[in-house]
Amino acid sequence: MKKSHIVEKLLGDLSRYTPSNKAVTAYAPTNIALVKYWGKRNQELNLPMTSSLSVSLTDKGATTTLSVSAIAQDVFVLNGKPVPTTSVFYQRLLCYLDLFRPFKTFYFNVDIVSTVPIAAGLASSACGFAAMALALDKFFSWQLSSQQLSMLARLGSGSACRSIWPGFVEWHAGEREDGMDSYAEPLSVQWPELCIGLMIVSDKEKTIGSREAMQRTIETSELYKSWPQKVAHDLVILKKAIQEKDFDLLGKTAESNALAMHATMLSAWPPVSYYLPETISAMHRVWQARAEGVPVYFTQDAGPNLKLLFVDKDRARRYFPEIAVMQA
Ligand code: DP6
Repeated sequence: MKKSHIVEKLLGDLSRYTPSNKAVTAYAPTNIALVKYWGKRNQELNLPMTSSLSVSLTDKGATTTLSVSAIAQDVFVLNGKPVPTTSVFYQRLLCYLDLFRPFKTFYFNVDIVSTVPIAAGLASSACGFAAMALALDKFFSWQLSSQQLSMLARLGSGSACRSIWPGFVEWHAGEREDGMDSYAEPLSVQWPELCIGLMIVSDKEKTIGSREAMQRTIETSELYKSWPQKVAHDLVILKKAIQEKDFDLLGKTAESNALAMHATMLSAWPPVSYYLPETISAMHRVWQARAEGVPVYFTQDAGPNLKLLFVDKDRARRYFPEIAVMQA
């Protein structure tokens, strides 16, 4: 099934919609998964093998402004600079917008302002595609529900379906082949004391993108077979931890889940490793801090940098003065 079929299911005939003659703007936060999404059951529709659970960062995200292009092509600007037409990002935006043109020669002007630290392994595609889905909804006055918007954002990037909401968000894997039951929903619990500290160990380009890495893992990793079970278990524990505001349980579950995800990659062939020597050193610093009684844990995505989890900001800063603290 093609992405365009899903768009048709959600929106019907696109030519029914009139684009706004004014620019519209939408914001979406980026999110950090505490139980990860790793592996797809359908690559075209970004349908995941398992459910996942994330927390959105309040003030780190993307603000996207959409208007009609003044020239006969799309124009993409990121943080004031034109997006190079040869970049992967440009191609992904182009493919995504192709799904929503009311007629063939309709072109968009897209201005994205991102507060996500560049090259730090924070999910910029997640907030990027979520903000785009929200902006498109305003631009064409679709008036879609958050659930439908979550599915539209997923077509751009899987983790984007979680960035439609602030706070804790669960993405239900769903079972349907068309993915109409694969969307994210917020949990009703707030936990404003929870902090994420970004620990940058390298800002070098990653050697392999997460899309390719997760596919290789599914196809070749023996350990991947146990991943769905691990996720199912961690989701139950994590939701309990969030409900009871049990920080140690949350930290332990998130750290263990991230390590297990990376273990599935290490056992793929050719092996996928996002670990740099500095990543391992950083992990040891976290473990040492914990041994000294500081409640701090880490999670890691498809990059070498760590995201530290803690509730006591001052104490965490004393141990890790270099981190940028972000509010969940
Ligand atoms: C490690 O959502 O970027 O950050 O669906 O191919 O766009 P695509 O992948 P993407 O993968 C994110 C993977 C992760 C874990 C997570 O965010 O759950």
